[in-house]
Amino acid sequence: MAAFVKVAETGEVAPGQAKCVEAGGRTIALFNVEGFFYAIDNTCTHRGGPLCEGELIGDEVTCPWHGAIFDVKTGNVLGPPAPHGVARHAVRVQGSEVEIEV
Ligand code: FES
Repeated sequence: MAAFVKVAETGEVAPGQAKCVEAGGRTIALFNVEGFFYAIDNTCTHRGGPLCEGELIGDEVTCPWHGAIFDVKTGNVLGPPAPHGVARHAVRVQGSEVEIEV
């Protein structure tokens, strides 16, 4: 059964920033897009680049290794060379805590 786990404090990830977090045994990229938090699997589907280290512009992150673009709200791939998207995870904010569903 799915459960929410705390992965960060809201103040740790400023708007336009990302953070690598661990939840449910996987590495997840947490993003703050204009005050709203989104989470997708961290591992790029091309060669495994760390999406939490990519550049975030609006709601799109660019993989730091070869430039694939992902929608951080859905996990969908928007630009090559990644062959397909990554899993997205539900996020909720409880007070000052950011929680991800795993
Ligand atoms: S590993 Fe992400 S684009 Fe190549």
